Amino acid sequence: MNNLAHLAIIMDGNGRWAKLQGKPRTHGHQQGINALRNITIWCAKEHIAYLTLYAFSTENWSRPKTEVEFLMRMLKKYLVQERPTYLEHKIRFKAIGNLKKFSPTLQKTILNLEQETATHTALTQVLALNYGGRDEIARACGRILERGLKGDLQELIGAHLDTAGLPDVDLLVRTGGEMRLSNFLLWQSSYAELFFSPVLWPDFTPEHLAQIIASFNQRQRKFGKV
Ligand code: IPE
Ligand code: IPE
Ligand code: MG
Repeated sequence: MNNLAHLAIIMDGNGRWAKLQGKPRTHGHQQGINALRNITIWCAKEHIAYLTLYAFSTENWSRPKTEVEFLMRMLKKYLVQERPTYLEHKIRFKAIGNLKKFSPTLQKTILNLEQETATHTALTQVLALNYGGRDEIARACGRILERGLKGDLQELIGAHLDTAGLPDVDLLVRTGGEMRLSNFLLWQSSYAELFFSPVLWPDFTPEHLAQIIASFNQRQRKFGKV
C-alpha cells in the first residue's frame, strides 16, 4: 500500500448512532472509541505510515456544555486507558490542533503519551484535537510573521503547520454520510482523494475501510497533469 502514506478520517455520526439506539449522544462517543481502536490497529498492521483522525474541532466548543465536558473527560480517559495499545503495537501518538485551550492536566497527558511513544516505528496516529484547518494555517502564518521569516511562502507555511514533516493527505474518508470537510486539514488535503461513507462511525469497521482503500487504489491521481 505504498501509494497510501497518509490516510485521514473524519469520524462522524456518533450522535446519530446513539439516537438510533434511543441512548444519549454521549453513548455514541463512547462506542466510537472501539471503532477508533480497531481502525488504528488495522492501519498499523497494513503498514500505513500516517493516520490522522478528527476527534474535536475548533467549532465543537459550540456544543452543549455537558457534551463538551463529557468529551474532555473521555479524551483524558482514552489517553490513559489506551496506552497499552500504543505500546503493544508500537504506534506513535501525535496530537495536532491548538492544545493550549485544554486544561493543563489534559495537555500534560497528551504530551506524556507523545513523548513515551516518540520512538515507535509502526503507524503514526495523529489525533486532531481542538483542530481547525483555518486556525492551523493562521497560527502557522502568525509564527512566520513573528519570526520575520523570508522565503518561499508555501514552503514556510507547510513547515509551520502542526503537521510539519508529515506527507500530504492521500485519502480522506468521512463517515456518517455528510459530504463536507468541516474545516479538516484544508491545506494538507488539496490533492487528496475523497470518500464519503454512509456508515455511522461506531459501526465503521476495518472491512469498510479495506473496501474504500481498494477503490482508492483504482483511482487515477493526476495532480494537474494529463
Ligand atoms: C462526531 O460525531 C464526533 C465529534 C464531533 C466529537 P457527532 O457527535 O458529530 O455525531 P453526529 O454527526 O451528531 O451524528
Ligand atoms: C466534524 O464533525 C468534527 C469531528 C468529527 C471531530 P462535526 O459533526 O462537528 O461537523 P459538522 O458540524 O457536521 O460540520
Ligand atoms: Mg457530526
